[in-house]
Amino acid sequence: MQGILYYSSTGNSLFIAKKVQESLGGKVMFLPKYKGDGSEFDKIILVTPIHSFGLPKQVYEFLPKLDKTKELIIIQNYGGMIGGADYFAYQYALKLGLNIKSVYVIKMPENFTLTFTVPKFYMNGVLRKSGKRIEKIIDMIKQEKFIIPKKRKTKEKTYLKNKNNWNLIAKRFKTNEKCVKCQKCVQICPAGNIFLQDGQIVFGDKCEACLSCYHRCPNKAIEYKNKKKKFRYINPNIDEKDIGKDF
Ligand SMILES: Cc1cc2nc3c(=O)[nH]c(=O)nc-3n(C[C@H](O)[C@H](O)[C@H](O)COP(=O)(O)O)c2cc1C
Ligand code: SF4
Ligand code: SF4
Repeated sequence: MQGILYYSSTGNSLFIAKKVQESLGGKVMFLPKYKGDGSEFDKIILVTPIHSFGLPKQVYEFLPKLDKTKELIIIQNYGGMIGGADYFAYQYALKLGLNIKSVYVIKMPENFTLTFTVPKFYMNGVLRKSGKRIEKIIDMIKQEKFIIPKKRKTKEKTYLKNKNNWNLIAKRFKTNEKCVKCQKCVQICPAGNIFLQDGQIVFGDKCEACLSCYHRCPNKAIEYKNKKKKFRYINPNIDEKDIGKDF
């Protein structure tokens, strides 16, 4: 059986992971909760967003632990700018000695939207087009049409710098009067960085800028730099409560 590992804040990667499972079978697992090294599977399909032209922090830190004998296929999804992230991921996997076979990329709705709003019609257009691309990628996996990203400039330096500063993002979060202390954010934070202390929601120093809390608070009660932005995103084709579950 193949293992389909996913990291997802707003459901895009979960949606892709489930589509892969529908067509190719396998077990879907949320990477932040997965404790293994992939050795129990025939091969690993990793579905991950692009974060800052690279990989989410937890994905970056997980890959060195992966069983080097297992075939690895990476499906990256991104909101607007790949910036060499596919080549970066491929080279990183090679450097780690992993059995990397292919890296596929797919555009999905942008979720790094702390300071801007994405128009609905644009979002819907991206989602419509992504359906065909997902089917194409699944076909390529079936037929073992592997993609080795061509050599090109990456933004590795920017990525490594940003990764080191992601802990600061939550320092700029504040909850507003709409917070009902339901602690959903506490439960879904993949970094265990949110706490209820003395009746207040507080953010610690381990933020990895995934934005799960920001987008998925049911009351839009988390604000960034006191900006009263209304826009929040959750992939409309999944049940939000499924993000973080295994299937
Ligand atoms: C911290 C962070 C950094 C991001 N960096 C990029 C980026 O460099 N390029 C890009 O196109 N999208 C970027 N995005 C957008 C996500 O890759 C994209 O919306 C993805 O589909 C989200 O997947 P998810 O819903 O499974 O989390 C970033 C998102 C976050 C939260
Ligand atoms: S999820 Fe939202 S409403 Fe619930 S405790 Fe967190 S910030 Fe408050
Ligand atoms: S504090 Fe929010 S943005 Fe930071 S890791 Fe936790 S859920 Fe993600």
